[in-house]
Order: sequence, then C-alpha cells, then structure tokens
Amino acid sequence: MASPRSVHVCSACGHESPRWSGQCTGCGEWNTLVEELRARPGAPGRAGGIGSRPPTGPSVTPVPLGSVAAAEHARLRTGIGELDNVLGGGLVPGSLVLIGGSPGVGKSTLTTMALAHLAAAGRRTLYVSAEESPAQIRLRAERLSAGAPLEIPVIAETDLATVLATLERERPEVCVVDSVQTLHCGELTSAAGSVAQVREAATEIMRVAKAMRIAVLLVGHVTKDGALAGPRVLEHLVDCVLQFEGERERTYRTVRAIKNRFGSTSEAGVFEMRDDGLVEVLDASARFVAEATRAAGSVVLCAMEGTRPLLVEVQALVSPSELEPPRRVVAGIDRNRLALVLAVLGRHAGIGLGNADVFVNVVGGVRVDEPGADLAVALAVAGAARNVPLHSGAGEPLACFGELGLTGELRTVAHADRRLAEAEKFGLAPVAEPDRFRTLRDAVRTLVVRDRMALAR
Ligand code: TYD
Ligand code: MG
Repeated sequence: MASPRSVHVCSACGHESPRWSGQCTGCGEWNTLVEELRARPGAPGRAGGIGSRPPTGPSVTPVPLGSVAAAEHARLRTGIGELDNVLGGGLVPGSLVLIGGSPGVGKSTLTTMALAHLAAAGRRTLYVSAEESPAQIRLRAERLSAGAPLEIPVIAETDLATVLATLERERPEVCVVDSVQTLHCGELTSAAGSVAQVREAATEIMRVAKAMRIAVLLVGHVTKDGALAGPRVLEHLVDCVLQFEGERERTYRTVRAIKNRFGSTSEAGVFEMRDDGLVEVLDASARFVAEATRAAGSVVLCAMEGTRPLLVEVQALVSPSELEPPRRVVAGIDRNRLALVLAVLGRHAGIGLGNADVFVNVVGGVRVDEPGADLAVALAVAGAARNVPLHSGAGEPLACFGELGLTGELRTVAHADRRLAEAEKFGLAPVAEPDRFRTLRDAVRTLVVRDRMALAR
C-alpha cells in the first residue's frame, strides 16, 4: 500500500514544497507552510488538481479565433443593480464567482438577497450553507425586504460529496455555497479550510457547475490581512473574484471586482447595511458631503469607485504624543501611504509631526486605495495640526485630490475631469488639485495659513 505522502503547502499562495521551511519559496511569506498528507495512492508527482494529466494523449487541431463561435452569454440578473453592474451585467450561467470578505461584512446577506430576487424572477435556486442551520438562514431571510427569500430552497451540509450530488440532482440555475472554507472533502486528511480542502472543494464545484451550467456564488472568508487559507488560492480557478469590503460596525460597504472574465474590473458598488438588509447607495456622494463636519481636520476627497466618482470625507486628528514612536492609526487608507504623506508634510511643507499621534479616518467605512487620496490626507492632517478648518468658497468643505511625489510635488491622477465635475455638482469649487497647486507647500500655504489669518481677523 502506498504510504501517505507529506507535502508542505503555503496557506497564502498554495506553493508546495516537500520540506518545511520558515519562509515560503513561492511568495516569500513567513510561517505560512502547513503540512498536508496526501493519502491518494498511485499519483506520481503532482497529486490531484486539474493539472494532473497523463503525459501522452491525442492531439487536437487549433482553429483560428475568427472561426470560433462565440456564444452570447445570457446573463442572470440578480436584481441588485450594484451587484449586476460589478459582475458586468449579471451572472453568467456555468460561471464561478468568488465573493471574499471578512466575517460579518454581509456576504450571506448579499447572496441571500441575490437568490431571493432570482427566485422571485422564476429561476431555480439553491442555497448551500455549510455554516448555519436552516433555522438561522430563515431568521436572516425574514429580516430581508428583498424579493421572495422564503422561497429559496436551502440545505445545510458540510460534506462536499453530498453537496455535489445534491447539485447534480437539483440542477439549480443559480447556487450559493456559503462558505467554501467550511466544506469538507472526506478523501483528504487535512482539516476543513486548509488549502488542499478549499482547492478540492472549488475544483469539484466548478466541474459540476460547468457541466450543468450552474452559476455558482462561492463565499469565502478572508481575515483583515488576507491570512486565512483559501480565497487567494482560488483566484486563478474561478471566473470572477468580488471583494466585499467594509467594517462590521460601520454602515457602508463596497463590492468591487478584482478579477472578471466576463466584464471589467473597474466597477464598484456601494451598499448600506440596514435592519432589513443591504441597500444600494446610489447617491453616496450627496450623503457624505451632507454629513461632512467642516471642522478642522476634515476635507472631502474626490475619490473614484471604479469608473464612478465618489466624494468622501477624510478626517484627521493630531494630538501630542506620549509614546515613542508616536501612534499612526488609519482606517480606510493604507498605513504606509500615511507614513509617506507625513514625511512629505514634514520635509516639504514645514509641518513636522514627529512628536504627535496622528489618526486618519475615511468616514463611513469606505476604503480608498489610490494615490489620488494623498493630498486629501495631507490637507486633513495639516488642518488638524494647525487647527484650521479648510473651506472652499462659501463655507463649503474643501474638496481635493492628487498624488504626492516624494519631492513634495503634486501629481495628476486618472479621471481628473470626472472628479472635478462631481465636486462642482455639489458646489465644492474651487477644488484643491494638481492643476491648481504645483506643490504641497503651495497648497498648504494658500489653504492652511491664509485661512488662519482670516480666522485671526
Ligand atoms: P452576514 O451576512 O451574516 O455576514 P457574513 O456572511 O459576511 O459573515 O451579516 C453581517 C452582519 O450584518 C451581521 O452581523 C448582522 C447584520 N445584519 C443587518 O444589520 N441587517 C440585516 O438585515 C442582516 C441580515 C444582517
Ligand atoms: Mg455568513
């Protein structure tokens, strides 16, 4: 009998190596290798996976692309406009969509709502929960105002083989599997949620989905730093990867595509978590501008959510520090980006914060991951440090965008015209941006110092 083969699999990238080492040679991460036993006998070299093919086989004749019949995909609309938009017009039959997000962000809520709409539109649906009991799913569904959630057929099952058999028998058009990490394949020795298990579950579900033309929404958990095994390993496999972001305690959530074989990855949708489920936020800019505090340390950032402009409030608080090194706390922006902005502020704009704690927050739980946020962060911090409220025109909050260079220059960013137009729509002109100021020093001098003199008068 073949003895189980032991391999070490990186839980971040899926790289396999025969021996354990502290650092993964595939992606360079530390302490990510986990031992797995491959019990399958007679599989030489790479065991399992879709890559294991016999070395020889019949050859095929390549055809020119022009003579390939390209089937128009009839989309299954989920009835949630923002979600359909991000998907590129709806779900494609036979496709596998991975929805990744941290626990509590609303993945089960969003997928239940999508199924409810599809069920109401007469589609055959199936909700496979490997996390909750049917009673729990029902309790959630009862809270939702969407569609016909109580018509969705559900099964609570963690065994992969049972799920696959049920899929083959029920043949739904759309199916949700919540979540891929809690499914368990009895043939593998490793625990549910390990890389091997997650990959096996996704591969098998994909096989059935393609054969039966089932559109599958696969839910996957990621922790804050994406550490948990799974979703990253699956990104190559699935057709579409949606990232669901937002903090559990906050109201606003965004969904964006980071991979999409059937549409663009530049769209994003904004949702609000209410008592009766997720509600699309179509006028997000209007809300954020109306809620902006106009106090010292607050500015409005003209950000982009995909191809749509979005105005969000960026707040900063600067206070004397008793810690060495002082605190740098961020929510909604990248911590390293704040470090860069603070360095440029100190070196090129005369606002040194070496002895101060700095807190920066993008209001509403929105996350902005673009260099265009630099100037907003810099001006919010500068305003907070000097205790100067920044305004544009008649007491409206100051709107800004632009990237900071290391030499203190302001750099243009994509879609400047759309950002400007959005700010103008809400009466936030003139906007602080790279066309108006060449350097951060210019902007700080004009906006922060001048206003202070105005205040003193
Ligand atoms: P859930 O969809 O279960 O999150 P996930 O599947 O991503 O872990 O729910 C997220 C949170 O949202 C949960 O803590 C309860 C809350 N919630 C509402 O505020 N309103 C609602 O209508 C529902 C269903 C949930
Ligand atoms: Mg859930």
